[in-house]
Amino acid sequence: MKLPSGAPGSRILSVGEYRPARVVTNEEICQRIDSSDAWIRERTGIITRRFASDDETVAGMAAAASSKALADAGIEPDDVDLVVVATITHPYQTPAASSEVQHLIGASRAGAFDLGAACAGFCYALSVADAAIRSGTARYVVVAGSERMTDFIDPTDRGMAFLFGDGAGAVVVGPADRPGIGPVVWGSDGSQAAMITQEPTYLEVQRALAEGKTTPPVALRMAGQSVFRWAVTQMAPVARRALEAAGVDVGELAAFIPHQANLRIVESLAKSLGLGPNTVIARDIETQGNTSSASIPLALAALLEEGAVESGQYALLIGFGAGLTYAAQVIEIP
Ligand code: COA
Repeated sequence: MKLPSGAPGSRILSVGEYRPARVVTNEEICQRIDSSDAWIRERTGIITRRFASDDETVAGMAAAASSKALADAGIEPDDVDLVVVATITHPYQTPAASSEVQHLIGASRAGAFDLGAACAGFCYALSVADAAIRSGTARYVVVAGSERMTDFIDPTDRGMAFLFGDGAGAVVVGPADRPGIGPVVWGSDGSQAAMITQEPTYLEVQRALAEGKTTPPVALRMAGQSVFRWAVTQMAPVARRALEAAGVDVGELAAFIPHQANLRIVESLAKSLGLGPNTVIARDIETQGNTSSASIPLALAALLEEGAVESGQYALLIGFGAGLTYAAQVIEIP
């Protein structure tokens, strides 16, 4: 058998984003739950989030972000070999969102699949893209994280309704003569699956409807305090291992771009890692809420737009969430 020869490394070439137009304030959220703007800001850092309208689909938002990233990188859609969409909110069990994205962006030659690792999904997908390019299986890969969290959140759930938002971020990953995406450190703890889970399942809904029973709608449920504790105690060691694996010192980081779960989690991790004043900490959650697999590329896009980071600098990414799943890696800013 022959094998293709891959590139010595890969790097993110560009970033694209899609933020739905509708901005939702804490006051609007509090019309459905007993809470306040002050409580939500203090406990989460969230000031506003965006909610997608009916025609802003998971695939459509991913495609818009991906097309933007392709245009920015100057890569033709026909040159894309693989489209990976990290998502947990595409409403179809099949076909996958990625095939629709592949078609919408005109990546006629590309393979496509969805990847479900919840809020760690983008970091998982980035690692898959890096591996595909280094193995020679692909030259250019589009990686998108896209979510309509609002389809899976009960607006009357006092523990969740204020946290989540919708949107998509995408990157184009291509070959490089040195590593621009560091080794991934990833893991999962399925014994804690109940901490963030969907209730009821689609199957339970189907069976209830078939039997003429009423059923609550499908929604995510979360043990918020337990998730919080897990994230602030377990994720800093994972982030440190990603730095070690890449051979990058914490002092060399220009940016820390963790999953935007809760600003208190972000700040606690930054403190545990001992980040210095020269490391920019992503705070996209303030205006975007928690967008699961979309949150890291959206936060990266925001830092680039603000001019807070420069091409070639190091950033540390870490995603964590339902599963439980987690993944971290160092990247070079595109
Ligand atoms: N508004 C006002 N008060 C609220 C409230 C709300 N929406 N939700 C809970 N409270 C109250 C509780 O009743 C409780 O009051 P008490 O002390 O008088 O009993 C108090 O606030 C603390 O409740 P608790 O559930 O412990 O809140 P918390 O400080 O853990 O904050 C979260 C809740 C959801 C913000 C927090 O747990 C969190 O962010 N968890 C992680 C979530 C996450 O990141 N999930 C995604 C992972 S990818």
